[in-house]
Amino acid sequence: MTRPTLIATIGPCGAGKTTWRRRHAPAGAVVVSLDETRAALSPCGCSGNHAVNAAAVEAATTSTREVLAAGGTVVWDTTAYLSRFRAHMLDLADEAGARTVGLVVLPPLLTALARNAGRDATVCPHCGSPRRVPDPVVWRMHHAITTDLPRLPGEGWHELRFLDLPPYLRTR
Ligand SMILES: Nc1ncnc2c1ncn2[C@@H]1O[C@H](COP(=O)(O)OP(=O)(O)OP(=O)(O)O)[C@@H](O)[C@H]1O
Ligand SMILES: [Mg+2]
Ligand SMILES: [Zn+2]
Repeated sequence: MTRPTLIATIGPCGAGKTTWRRRHAPAGAVVVSLDETRAALSPCGCSGNHAVNAAAVEAATTSTREVLAAGGTVVWDTTAYLSRFRAHMLDLADEAGARTVGLVVLPPLLTALARNAGRDATVCPHCGSPRRVPDPVVWRMHHAITTDLPRLPGEGWHELRFLDLPPYLRTR
């Protein structure tokens, strides 16, 4: 049996995480996307529907356990902007003896804002969520990840990869 592997993106909304995993997720990997799970569980089909968030996290957790227990690879397509979200994934990997790869997708803030700005800002009449998140949300996520960069190596990832790191952070 191959060693189970958990790959997790770490990046703000609009960073390019989903674009990366569509292009580069290893063949055969199971993608866990809270956005897509929320959309599937929402009667209105919205990925940002918070009413189904807890159910989406539970479904994602169950599927991660199953895939890792079978020796497979899971790619979490998630912002993981808070250390407790990352700790949850690292705990799941640890339970299964899985290898962990953190993939930091952190373009400059203005790039993430511009990519987010290109999305539909219409608010859903059923759940109240837009696909485009408010700019301050992107800013806060970007700031949280930037602040945590020096701490990531101590969180327990077997491997950390940095995509799109802004030039002013490259020497850290
Ligand atoms: N490397 C890139 N170069 C140019 N445009 C990109 C790149 N990566 C992503 N984009 C564009 O930026 C937008 C956001 O990308 P994407 O949906 O992958 O972000 P995300 O990190 O998954 O965001 P969210 O957390 O909100 O799901 C998309 O319109 C996408 O086409
Ligand atoms: Mg995405
Ligand atoms: Zn909705």
